[in-house]
Amino acid sequence: MPNYINSVWSEAKPSPPHPPLEGNLIVDDAVVGGGITGITTALLLARAGRRVVVIEGRRVGKGESGKSTAHLTETLDVPYRALAARFGVEGARLAAAGQREAIARIAAFCDELGIDCGFHRLPGYLYVERREELPALDEEADTALTLGLGVKRLPGAPLPFPTAGALRWADQAALHPRAYLAALADAFLDAGGRIAEETQVVEIDDADLCRVITDRGTVLARQVIVAAHVPISNRVLLHAKLAAYRTYVLGLALPPDAGVGGLYWDMSVPYHYIRSQTIDGQNTLIVGGEDHKVGDGGDTIARFDRLEAYVRHHFHRDAAATDHRWSGQIVRSADGLPYVGRNALSGRVFVATGYGGNGITQGTLAAMILSDLVLARDNRYAELLDATRVKPLAAARALLTENVDYPRHLITDRLRHPGPEGLGDIQPGEGRVLSLGGQRMAVYRNANGQLSALSPVCTHLGCLVHWNRTEQSWDCPCHGSRFDPHGRVLNGPAVTALVALPLPPEATANDQEPPVAHWPEQPPAE
Ligand SMILES: Cc1cc2nc3c(=O)[nH]c(=O)nc-3n(C[C@H](O)[C@H](O)[C@H](O)COP(=O)(O)OP(=O)(O)OC[C@H]3O[C@@H](n4cnc5c(N)ncnc54)[C@H](O)[C@@H]3O)c2cc1C
Ligand code: FES
Repeated sequence: MPNYINSVWSEAKPSPPHPPLEGNLIVDDAVVGGGITGITTALLLARAGRRVVVIEGRRVGKGESGKSTAHLTETLDVPYRALAARFGVEGARLAAAGQREAIARIAAFCDELGIDCGFHRLPGYLYVERREELPALDEEADTALTLGLGVKRLPGAPLPFPTAGALRWADQAALHPRAYLAALADAFLDAGGRIAEETQVVEIDDADLCRVITDRGTVLARQVIVAAHVPISNRVLLHAKLAAYRTYVLGLALPPDAGVGGLYWDMSVPYHYIRSQTIDGQNTLIVGGEDHKVGDGGDTIARFDRLEAYVRHHFHRDAAATDHRWSGQIVRSADGLPYVGRNALSGRVFVATGYGGNGITQGTLAAMILSDLVLARDNRYAELLDATRVKPLAAARALLTENVDYPRHLITDRLRHPGPEGLGDIQPGEGRVLSLGGQRMAVYRNANGQLSALSPVCTHLGCLVHWNRTEQSWDCPCHGSRFDPHGRVLNGPAVTALVALPLPPEATANDQEPPVAHWPEQPPAE
């Protein structure tokens, strides 16, 4: 089987590891999560003279930020015509201004810190391939012009395949996300900050002095910023307004003069996104798409196959020459803008989430907002993106459609009764949910042929996990939690591991894997 977790950024020089938390610590601000949101927020706070610790469950930059294709654009996943309808013309205009300000902030960091991450400005093109899609493109062009955004309507996009029309946005940007993030993390350490890696936060107590409880010790902090991509402090309220999707990407080596000179995204559902970047001297084409709700996409290998067929058709390449394949998680909000600010019902806990496929810019904007809130400074985007907002009817409808999946999965997946059949067919590196000894189990066979079993009940709110073949993970279809084959958390909102179960003796005579030590199970945060 090909490698499905090898992104074009994987070969970046790894940063030295940071030691886990040992014992207890008192700081001004604890930041949970070492992605674009967490590291940028931490840097801004440390530069303002605060004592800040970043607590990262795995390694800095290895979350979704390190898998991003890093198109830095004024456009968002949600069309501006939808944003204008939901937030008014002024709201949509402010959302666009936020995107521009985030790109400018990233450019300024690259400049001030001399970051070598290939940051460059280039045009972006929203395009359609089919004439039937032209009315939607024209509507978006009209809205953009009404909002005063500097777009140009073109008969087609400069791509090596025919397009029916395009909108050109000047002065967008791109960069190497891991190189950028590693440099920001270094700047944070230089400013006196501390990073604790391999330290999983399992609970946050909101009080005058917040307690951030981890599997390594406790941090006492005046403020806590939850930058874990999804909120882990608010386990229900905010999740009802979020939906987690997986997206798929291919990276292909190109001859030096064959790149595409812009950022591109189409209006298909799900949409495709295309760009190229020189990485370690190699010109590389990066094409993504095939998004689906986490845990609900069927065979994930088929997603890569379809994307390869798309690349073959549009770029006339032999798909066998595909050099990198990877997938990642994006989290959409109900109304199209992220949720940033004070957590509902919280005094001192802040959150940022719901960026969709725009999280490099929106994570940066969130960091600017959150650092201003912590430092009691005004921020003109804070009200628009307020995490506790309940937005209009259109958003409520989206919210209901997305979240009907939670009760649906909770009930219907439980009504399905898998039998023990197929245990012997599980191949090394494969997992399957089976019923053994009267109990439902998530069974995995490791590379040595040994079997192990977990409870398939997600530790967030109790849905049943599904096996993801390409990521080799257990994925929850309800709110996007993911677990490795041994049950450890890969993506929240879950914070605790799947429970290990003993396999019944009759299920396996001599190929049972020794049990894996798990982090201690904690009660839910609410
Ligand atoms: C394939 C792909 C392509 C994308 N393309 C683009 C693009 O072109 N442009 C764009 O702007 N955006 C894009 N995005 C979206 C963007 O990359 C993300 O929205 C953004 O990086 C999220 O940043 P984050 O800091 O919120 O999360 P992350 O980078 O995921 O960081 C969160 C961190 O929190 C840690 N964590 C989680 N739970 C805990 C816990 N309990 N304890 C301790 N630590 C914890 C995780 O380990 C992780 O490191 C893309 C995303 C993907 C996956
Ligand atoms: S992620 Fe919410 S129940 Fe699994």
